[in-house]
Parts: sequence; C-alpha cells; structure tokens
Amino acid sequence: GTSPQSWDKPLEGKVAVVTGAARGIGATIAEVLSRDGAHVICADIPAAGEALADTANKVGGTSLPLDVSAPGAGAKLAEHALERHGGIDIIVNNAGITRDKLLANMDDARWDSVIAVNLIAPEALVNGLLEKGALREGGAVIDVSSIAGIAGNRGQTNYGASKAGVIGLVDSYAPILAEKGVTINAVAPGFIETKMTAAIPLATREAGRLMSSLQQGGQTVDVAETVAYFANPASNAVTGNIVRVCGQGFL
Ligand code: NAI
Repeated sequence: GTSPQSWDKPLEGKVAVVTGAARGIGATIAEVLSRDGAHVICADIPAAGEALADTANKVGGTSLPLDVSAPGAGAKLAEHALERHGGIDIIVNNAGITRDKLLANMDDARWDSVIAVNLIAPEALVNGLLEKGALREGGAVIDVSSIAGIAGNRGQTNYGASKAGVIGLVDSYAPILAEKGVTINAVAPGFIETKMTAAIPLATREAGRLMSSLQQGGQTVDVAETVAYFANPASNAVTGNIVRVCGQGFL
C-alpha cells in the first residue's frame, strides 16, 4: 500500500529462532523479538543449560539445545520447527566465538572452530531450513557479522575473516531468498559490552568503545533493536544490507 501501517505487535504469529540466545546479544535479541510478538525458539550449545532455560522462560519462548556447528544442525532445527510450529519465519544467526591470537601464533584449531561456528553454521542452518521447506514466505534471515569483518582487527585474522565471510553470504543469498519472499541482512556491531568483550585486553577495549558515535561501549539492546527492524515486516523491501551498530571501525 501507500500508507504506513501502525504496528502494535509487528511479529504477532511469527516464529523466530535466535542462536546463541543463552546470554549476551542473543539473549537481548530474543527479548526484543518476543516483545514484538514473536514466539522465540532460543537455541544455544547444550552446555549453556540453565542460562538458556532462563532466557526462554524470560521471553515466554522455548529452548532448543543445539550446537550450530554440529553436523546436521540445520536439519535438526528444521525438523524441530516443522514439528512444533509448522515452520520458521525469522532466523537470527547470532551464535559466535572468538579464538584470538596474533598471526604468528595463530593455529589451525583456532581457524577451524571460528570458521565452523561463525561462517559455516549461518549458511548450514539456512540451507537446512530451505531443504526441508521450513522457511516461510515473508520471513527474514538476520546474520550477526562484526566491524572486524569490515575493518579487520589485530589478533583476529580468523574472526575477521569469518565475519567478512558472513557479508559474502548475505550478498550471495539475497537474490535466492528474494525469490521466496524472504529478506537477508546483517548487523555489524562495533564494541558491545558482553562477556565476549570483557575478555579482550584493556587498551583494545578502550579503543573499541570510542569508535561509536556514542563514545562508549554499545549495549546489547542497540544491536537487538536493529535486528528487530530487519525482522519487522515493515522492512520487507530491505535486503542484502550490512548495518554497522555502535562503531564505524577502529580509528
Ligand atoms: P557471548 O560470548 O556473550 O555469547 C555468545 C553465545 O553464543 C553464548 O551463549 C554461546 O554459548 C553461544 N554459542 C557459541 N558457540 C555456539 C555454538 N556452536 N552453537 C550454539 N551456540 C553457541 O557473545 P556476544 O558478545 O553476545 O556475541 C554475540 C554475537 O555477536 C557473536 O556472533 C559475536 O561474534 C558478535 N559480535 C559481538 C560483538 C561484541 O562486541 N560483543 C561485536 C561484533 C559482533
């Protein structure tokens, strides 16, 4: 139509899955999508245990223990969604890990695990849903990239490459998913205050905080609200985009 609609619960009746939902950015994404009316399937590694159950309870959703990098994870997710809900409308590929080392000390195990979780899994989950016809028309795929995938970061060749790869995924999937009436976009957060960034050295942390227009570390809700925009049917003509949140790149 030509007139804006007013949305109360824009995701009412929709089913969303958020990976890495036990804590951090993923837990807040689950909250925001639930606020907007979606039923949220909160997925995380089995070891996340109680934290995952807590998120699911808090948002009135369900929990799904799922290692996104395990073989068959996409099929498992698709079957779960088809059995319980008849399909999925929104998938947020948020699960991610860092295994930082300066290049001279970087090793294969660090590369393999980071690529498996951050890059291969977002592709494998969407493919698993497509293969089983579980991704519904009008839906949205939202990937969590990083400013490190745009601007790079010292000590993060593996992580930066994985997050740059996610941008390639978005570009490559956009026309394929458009044929199915599904959008795909990514957020590229700068420095967000979570357990992941609490682990990085102080000087890098301080520099990261200052790259945002806010001149301080971002909060998980800053990322989650951007994800909510991509999930909202009001953005159904917006696909193939990468949006920076809380950071333009190290200056
Ligand atoms: P976090 O470490 O606090 O939470 C990540 C969650 O993902 C954890 O609950 C973890 O158990 C889960 N996870 C890890 N491997 C998994 C697997 N194989 N299967 C299922 N779940 C798995 O991290 P944070 O900060 O909340 O990050 C979330 C996403 O945002 C990640 O993709 C990260 O790379 C990205 N990101 C974070 C930034 C930050 O400043 N915190 C900046 C840019 C991107």
